Amino acid sequence: AKTKVLVTRQLIDEAQRLLDAKEEELEIVQWQSEKPCERSWLLENAKGASGILVMLSDKVDEELLEAAGPQLKAIASFSVGTDHVDRNALKKRNIRLGYTPTCLTDAVADLTIMLILMAQRRGGESMAKVTKGEWPQMPWHPLLMTGPQIRGCTVGFLGFGRIAQASLQRLLPFGIKRVIYLTSKPGQPVKEDQLGLLKNANIPIEPASSADQLAEESDVVIVGCALTPDTKHLVSTDFFAKMKKLAVIVNIARGPIIDTNALVKALDEEQIFGAGLDVIEDEPNITADHPILRQPRAVLVPHIGSATIETREKMATESVKNLLAGLANEKMVNEVQL
Ligand code: GLV
Ligand code: GLV
Repeated sequence: AKTKVLVTRQLIDEAQRLLDAKEEELEIVQWQSEKPCERSWLLENAKGASGILVMLSDKVDEELLEAAGPQLKAIASFSVGTDHVDRNALKKRNIRLGYTPTCLTDAVADLTIMLILMAQRRGGESMAKVTKGEWPQMPWHPLLMTGPQIRGCTVGFLGFGRIAQASLQRLLPFGIKRVIYLTSKPGQPVKEDQLGLLKNANIPIEPASSADQLAEESDVVIVGCALTPDTKHLVSTDFFAKMKKLAVIVNIARGPIIDTNALVKALDEEQIFGAGLDVIEDEPNITADHPILRQPRAVLVPHIGSATIETREKMATESVKNLLAGLANEKMVNEVQL
């Protein structure tokens, strides 16, 4: 019998070809719609699968692993984040987990810069007014749509991994003054210097001793850490209360790291200047009545951090390679150490 694999999306050119080339050996069951894969479809079709390629919107939990059965060997996630995957459940069953942590770094770092500038320079608010035809009521004025400048800023990173460091690389030419970062080991220097910046940048780059210190000292806060029980609502009322009035916060990681109610309140009460969000709690169920959308200083885009054509092609191809390597007991392009 052929080995069964389940794939929860149609894939892009090369990735789909790579998968289809295995049709002699593999029974490929693939979700056909543009919409996210339905849970009931996933559970039904998982039965007997040896490998599953999932998107970040597909929960990989005990229920799915049970539904699949004991032959399941590998999960390949089309993402860098793996908070949708129950790692312990995989580990218990010796199921391997592939992911795509490196090929999207540049794309997400680019979006980080976009969101910082949008938040500081009021890009969303400005465009909304123009789109509504309000430019005639707001002719040029020395203080029209002014916001804080990026030069001279202290930038605080919550999480200081690949994407954070690639964002920092892009920020250096803007003339930022200083960097502080918080990882799961507060006060300790990170070991991985992905781009040699820690060694070579000619501004101070220092570990923060606490989230409080980072909130107090940063002009730009960048949320770039993984979502874990420890980072859920890491940014909430207390954090915003400590932030500077002209500071902006950007989230390119996972929505639940920021407490949305606290953010809305901080913007309402002008405790901070603005926010640039690629992710938000409860996404994608953000409808026009959501309170964040009444905040002119909040820029919200629909989780498009890795959405360059080039990167999505690479993520798709790498995901298929990880899946096939998992089935063949070979080395994955990138594997999570469970
Ligand atoms: C995107 O959020 C990802 O985890 O790839
Ligand atoms: C977590 O915040 C980390 O990046 O270490």
